[in-house]
Amino acid sequence: MTKTLLVTSALPYANGDIHLGHLVEHVQTDIFVRFQKHLGHACYYMCADDAHGTAIMLSAEKDGVTPDAYIDAVKAQHISDFKQFNIDYDHYYSTHSEENRVLSESIYNAANDDGGIIKKDIQQYFDEDKGLFLADRYIKGTCPKCGATDQYGDACEVCYATYSATELVDPVSALSGKPPVLKESTHYFFDLEKYREHITQWLATDPVSDPVKNKLNEWLTGDLKPWDISRDAPYFGFKIPGTDDKYFYVWLDAPIGYIATTESWATANGKTCHAFWKNDAVEIHHFIGKDIMYFHTLFWPAMLAVSGFNQPKKVHIHGFLTVNGEKMSKSRGTFILARDYAKLLNPDILRYYYAAKLSSSMDDIDFNLEDFVQRINSDVLGKFINIGSRIGAIVTKKLDGQLSTIDAEGLALLDDILAMSDAISDAYQSLDTHKGMRMIMQCAELANKYIDDKAPWALVKDNADAARVVCTVALNALRILCIYLAPVMPGVTQQLFSFLGVSSQHWAQLPQHITNATLAPYEHVLKRLTLDDVAPLVNTTQ
Ligand code: 2FM
Ligand code: ZN
Repeated sequence: MTKTLLVTSALPYANGDIHLGHLVEHVQTDIFVRFQKHLGHACYYMCADDAHGTAIMLSAEKDGVTPDAYIDAVKAQHISDFKQFNIDYDHYYSTHSEENRVLSESIYNAANDDGGIIKKDIQQYFDEDKGLFLADRYIKGTCPKCGATDQYGDACEVCYATYSATELVDPVSALSGKPPVLKESTHYFFDLEKYREHITQWLATDPVSDPVKNKLNEWLTGDLKPWDISRDAPYFGFKIPGTDDKYFYVWLDAPIGYIATTESWATANGKTCHAFWKNDAVEIHHFIGKDIMYFHTLFWPAMLAVSGFNQPKKVHIHGFLTVNGEKMSKSRGTFILARDYAKLLNPDILRYYYAAKLSSSMDDIDFNLEDFVQRINSDVLGKFINIGSRIGAIVTKKLDGQLSTIDAEGLALLDDILAMSDAISDAYQSLDTHKGMRMIMQCAELANKYIDDKAPWALVKDNADAARVVCTVALNALRILCIYLAPVMPGVTQQLFSFLGVSSQHWAQLPQHITNATLAPYEHVLKRLTLDDVAPLVNTTQ
């Protein structure tokens, strides 16, 4: 049965470049989306830049441009970076949009009408020079627990203690370098406790994996603290209805950007966003990192419930990316930007590497350069592309590009490879792509063994007809592998589909073998990697 799915990746901040860490999530989401489309489902992939907040306002000021001009330029760069990695959004928008303003106001108004908004006066540090209330990351001082200097206003990087900014000893504003003053202002809070029952009911629908459910249950056994959703002017964002100088905190309108992006896309395509967000027949899937779990599994379901939008069917949560076993770091030169990678290497092989490492768990994954070279050479080149390059060369050079038929032995091989399709499909569906890639490589090994046994390069010298049958079988195995791998390596598989003379193929076309076809000349697809090829990755950004 055909399904409709609406899928999102977390919205990248419009304040910084896309790096290999972002790509873990967007590649994982894109593979899932491509696979759904491959199965014939109606699947829509929405994403946008997360364009509000103090950091973006200050970056624009530093560059001497308006925040609008700043976020437009960043968005254009983000779109170009993701495109290089074949991330195929149905729509990539911005949270700084009219649709998002209207939706944010209406969701806030719904919560307010429901008695879910509380006002409280709070004291906060204020930078008198800059005329700004200071978020924790803009205050530095001495840790109240261990005495380490130069620590941020929320946590100590030396002893890992957490505290409030007012506990810091000798605080200074990171913006002006001057000591901040305490100043009172009225803040608006979302009364999370009021929506405990909604969250609990949603959790009972099984939207998250067991470890995440355990974490959520832990949070749900404690108090659900009111969430501060307002920021004082000056702030780059949307003004809170009924106020003159209060703005929605960026995290209030960010997830609403998922709906606003759908709305923008829907309007351009003769549909409505309600057809997706208020329609029980549509599955909503969010892909996020484990650092933003709280926002997506507590606040977001509560906001959706109070405003009558549907809850996500699944929130898929992945771990972080490390490079050579450590957190990505600018000073170590391991903070690898997407566009720097793309200048050096084929994006599809990074997609494969991530797929081969990712599962449905929240475990971190490591981009280890040596392992990357080894894995790509052994799997992608040695097992997959190898079939095309060995057989393609024979067919092009010795057999006039002409295929023939498949004999009984060849059919048995192809049946063995096709027999894996359900298990591979299940792996894609459950995001266990590491398992999926392993199974696909097992299929490739079967094909390679067949080729080695038949040695068509020798056979072609005395018996062209027999060699042609072997090549026909081998290239049909390659076609099946291309269908299996198309969600992961869309560029590479498209090139091979063109060689095989078929337009891009869907899962349903798996058993449709090609026989008696005339093929285009085989062209080189990928080359083996060396450590020298990848070494420049770790210092290109310094
Ligand atoms: O953590 C982040 O990078 C946020 N910009 C993610 C926002 S996701 C959604 F809520 F918009
Ligand atoms: Zn400390």
